[in-house]
Amino acid sequence: MDRRNFIKSSCTFCVAATGLTALATMLQSCATIHVFNGTIDNNSITVPLSELVEKETVIIKSKNTESDIALVKSKSGEWKALLMLCTHASNPIVFNGSAFMCNVHFSEFNMDGVPKNGPAQKPLKILTTELKNESIVIKL
Ligand code: FES
Repeated sequence: MDRRNFIKSSCTFCVAATGLTALATMLQSCATIHVFNGTIDNNSITVPLSELVEKETVIIKSKNTESDIALVKSKSGEWKALLMLCTHASNPIVFNGSAFMCNVHFSEFNMDGVPKNGPAQKPLKILTTELKNESIVIKL
């Protein structure tokens, strides 16, 4: 193999390997994000425990809430409901698989809802939850 063909085939391999690695990372982070479409009833959303089996975080979407809600399992096994609304200027935040991000001014919140990077200074709002009839009831 001459020098030109060697460089060409090496570059092709590197581009393919980089692309596959990036794709695998994206698919892995997508695989960890679970979504539950909830409905509001009596100013609350009920999430069956069967929806939470073997999950650490579930994003609750509902048409009539001001933002999505993240149900996050603590190390002790309890679930916490975080309102996914940035505390800097009330914009929706997104879950990236390991933290919550605001794409407006780039605040970042940890899995407890505490700001890791500003400008947000206050933690995410925690909604009251109740365990009832094999479900978690999130009070809005
Ligand atoms: S609105 Fe989220 S960081 Fe400013």
